[in-house]
Amino acid sequence: MTTDAPNTTQDSATWPAHDPATWRSIPASSTPVDRDRVAALLAAEWETFVERTPASAVHNVRASKSLPLGVTSSFQHWDPYPISIASARGAWLTDVDGRQLLDLSMGFGAMLVGHLNPVIVEKVTEALQTTGTLFVTPSPTATEVAERFQERFGLDRLRFTNSGTESTMYAVRTARAFTHRHGIVKIEGGYHGGYDALSVSVKPDIAEAGPEGFPSAVVPFEVEAGLVHVVPYNDIDRLEHILDAHADEIAAVVMEPVLENVGIVLPDAGYLAAVRAACDHHGVLLIFDEVKTGLTAGYAGASHRLGVTPDLVTLAKSIGGGLPLAAFGGREDVMQAVTDGRMPHFGTYNGNPLVMAAAAAVDEVCTEEALATAESINEGALRALDDVIARYELPAHTVGFGVKGAVTWSTTPVRNYRDYKRTDFGTAELSWLWGLNRGILTPPGLDEQWLVSLAHTPADMAALVTDFADLAEAIRA
Ligand SMILES: Cc1ncc(COP(=O)(O)O)c(C=O)c1O
Repeated sequence: MTTDAPNTTQDSATWPAHDPATWRSIPASSTPVDRDRVAALLAAEWETFVERTPASAVHNVRASKSLPLGVTSSFQHWDPYPISIASARGAWLTDVDGRQLLDLSMGFGAMLVGHLNPVIVEKVTEALQTTGTLFVTPSPTATEVAERFQERFGLDRLRFTNSGTESTMYAVRTARAFTHRHGIVKIEGGYHGGYDALSVSVKPDIAEAGPEGFPSAVVPFEVEAGLVHVVPYNDIDRLEHILDAHADEIAAVVMEPVLENVGIVLPDAGYLAAVRAACDHHGVLLIFDEVKTGLTAGYAGASHRLGVTPDLVTLAKSIGGGLPLAAFGGREDVMQAVTDGRMPHFGTYNGNPLVMAAAAAVDEVCTEEALATAESINEGALRALDDVIARYELPAHTVGFGVKGAVTWSTTPVRNYRDYKRTDFGTAELSWLWGLNRGILTPPGLDEQWLVSLAHTPADMAALVTDFADLAEAIRA
């Protein structure tokens, strides 16, 4: 069974081709949406939202008295209040109003195995009942998972952490210790968690971000960023220019191989290989942040899928089966900085037996076959959505990578952050809210993508397609 989604682009000859292991399909023709109609539908949908979610409203009032915004991570919030979830199983959520929601957000992609996956539940229960939860000593439970991940992801050495933020922070520190340089290069619009150096130009205000081809580093006031250069994604010339001028002070280029916090932004064919070559030419390390891609990109992650090997990789979300697990690792000589203490790495909960039990179970259930099945369901949904887009001549297109997909409200490819900022956020918000009011939760924030987990069925994805067709009908009515 193949794990490579076909390159189905119908891009005009003027657009660079996207990487052949990724999905983009742009309709041959489209008609603009009526903005007044979209605005009217959106206003009506917000009224419906409030009518259908009274218990979530009450819960938000209560939660806001203890938690800022009433949430445990600001990403969970939206105005006027987010839906509160009481429980989850498989591909389904139950909210505090008792509604069943098809979960296509799946914990921002962390729930690749599905909620309460029986194998994860069994192994974690076994750990809880017979192994223990925390030793803070070496343990075969952690070594076994390290060996499995080493093999699966092709890493010489790795260390476990508890979050993507920790992993990206430690990867940057490792690169600094190895190269004796402090600077980093990151992609404009790229999100890598809360570490200061990586909080630069995450979603900068365009008014402050400088010219499109020469973005300036936008540093939030509360952040002590250090030396950070920012480049547009898919712009190898700009990266080479920065490396030519500053390589002697740059430790690493840090990037997601496929941007997954601004919808799904695909690498142009050859771009990642050119980044690799530029880094090699200048003795700069390449760090792929695979916190979001990881197993959702395929059995061995995005690096393997896209055929470009970084020096260090960060993993989180999908590898933990819903428990807090992350990792960083890569080349033996680079990770030697951890071994010899040039980059000290600590953490009380790192590799604890509870999370290791979940990770071993994830490794067991995320087989080539299981992931390929989920990916073919995703591909079927992308094709069906393409049909809807074509039928209603919507100014939108589909993008996908592995088991993830998104509808992007633009008639041209989104190749970087500035393109993303030019997409139609109003219609994207309507599409998200339309689904939510009809029992389909795609990720909040409009910047994420759906995930077809091991628990989703073709019928689940058909529900998404039908719902989208109903939305198209309403927009064109
Ligand atoms: C690409 C990427 N890197 C790092 C992080 C940070 O991970 P965490 O939320 O586990 O700290 C995220 C979180 O969404 C992410 O998407």
